[in-house]
Amino acid sequence: MKELVIFGAWYFSRVVAEVAEATGWKVLGYVDPEPPENVTGLKTLPDEAAVFVGLGDNSLRDVISSLLVKRGRNIATIVHPNACISPSSTIGPGSFIAELAVVRTGTTLGKGVILQSGSVVSHDCQVGSFASFGPNAATASRVQVGRRTLVGVGASIAPGMSIGDDCTVAAGAAVYKNADNKTTIIGNPATATPSPHRETKQSNWKLNTTW
Ligand SMILES: CC(C)(COP(=O)(O)OP(=O)(O)OC[C@H]1O[C@@H](n2cnc3c(N)ncnc32)[C@H](O)[C@@H]1OP(=O)(O)O)[C@@H](O)C(=O)NCCC(=O)NCCS
Repeated sequence: MKELVIFGAWYFSRVVAEVAEATGWKVLGYVDPEPPENVTGLKTLPDEAAVFVGLGDNSLRDVISSLLVKRGRNIATIVHPNACISPSSTIGPGSFIAELAVVRTGTTLGKGVILQSGSVVSHDCQVGSFASFGPNAATASRVQVGRRTLVGVGASIAPGMSIGDDCTVAAGAAVYKNADNKTTIIGNPATATPSPHRETKQSNWKLNTTW
């Protein structure tokens, strides 16, 4: 059986673990500097185990994934059997696609992309690495979503729109205009304003050198 270690031991990682086990992975455990009380973090990482970065914070997922790639780790991609993925789409390593998510014809997802349940990325879209879509978020066709951008639950993006890197598309937003990098896009019709600065909790995640 293929063995998997999940980086991150909180909410999203538990969702990932369930889908991983349903698709033939044996989950050996979790790595987390501050795991929840009921989870004992792994102290060593077996050489042959694949890894998955199950961190919902897009910036942190980018940082930790890049470190693990540099260390030569095999990064798993986890796709629920009830997701609907076009054979002409491309899905980058480290991505997670939940049940009832749809990726349509000619669409490209970068590395470490998260599509939560029921989200739809329509045809000929480009989704940047470490972007994420909440439940039921949707793009129409030919949309570009930047690196590390979060598309909130139930948000929708009109055809051909371009959303920059490090943006937050608010829950329920309806986006009919392009948006610059590092903006928060809210409402219907949505308007974009510069996002407040946010620290990523990288310091807690200094990886043990044996990993
Ligand atoms: C837009 C968002 C980033 C704002 O977060 P925040 O800065 O913490 O904002 P607050 O909760 O302090 O709310 C500030 C104001 O914005 C309003 N607001 C917050 N989210 C909103 C949204 N999605 N649409 C419209 N208005 C919203 C609040 O009602 C509040 O209004 P008020 O000042 O009149 O009381 C957040 O609400 C959001 O939508 N995040 C997406 C989360 C998501 O879907 N994640 C998917 C995980 S799977």
